[in-house]
Amino acid sequence: MTLVFLGGSLRPESLNRRLMNYLAREAQSQGQSARVFEGEDLRLPLYEDGLPTPGPVEEMAAALRNAQGVVIVSPEYNAGIPGHLKNAVDWLSVQRPSPWSGLPVLIAAASPGAFGGSRGVIAWRTTLANLGCWVAPTAITVPMADKNLGEDGTPLEERTRSEIHRTLQSFLGKSIQG
Ligand SMILES: Cc1cc2nc3c(=O)[nH]c(=O)nc-3n(C[C@H](O)[C@H](O)[C@H](O)COP(=O)(O)O)c2cc1C
Repeated sequence: MTLVFLGGSLRPESLNRRLMNYLAREAQSQGQSARVFEGEDLRLPLYEDGLPTPGPVEEMAAALRNAQGVVIVSPEYNAGIPGHLKNAVDWLSVQRPSPWSGLPVLIAAASPGAFGGSRGVIAWRTTLANLGCWVAPTAITVPMADKNLGEDGTPLEERTRSEIHRTLQSFLGKSIQG
């Protein structure tokens, strides 16, 4: 199956991008194909009625329509969704047919803080439910990510690696059954 990975911040050193790259590699090692959208793909004009749809939005919408699931890897800003990712979701939500409708979503977050971005996950659930997605009940959160993620995004703690492995496998099982 094909999974889309969407996330990270616009920072070149983004911890969430590192985590996303690790998750994409994990999914590939479990036999899935992965399409990643990050960084410049997400540097979009603010959504406004009447603006032409940016090329990256069309590309992401097509990839989502062809995918069996999406993994959103999001920083938490002020206990919520960061603006660049909300803006991308809003652009995608006005494309027809909606690429979100019925799509299985796994939410992941990394933060240097103790809660691992878990409050942002709650905000994501509200938005994704409104879009008609199926959202996996268990999210991936990596607290103290500045200490726990290696340069290539691999978690240094074995417990984090095995939790991620389990959560990803369960998501893949659920989204395959659809
Ligand atoms: C505007 C802003 C608000 C933030 N709010 C939170 C927050 O509510 N919770 C949290 O855990 N970290 C918060 N942070 C810290 C981010 O988690 C941290 O900068 C993280 O590294 C951002 O993700 P990135 O590494 O992928 O860029 C905030 C950072 C910024 C810039």
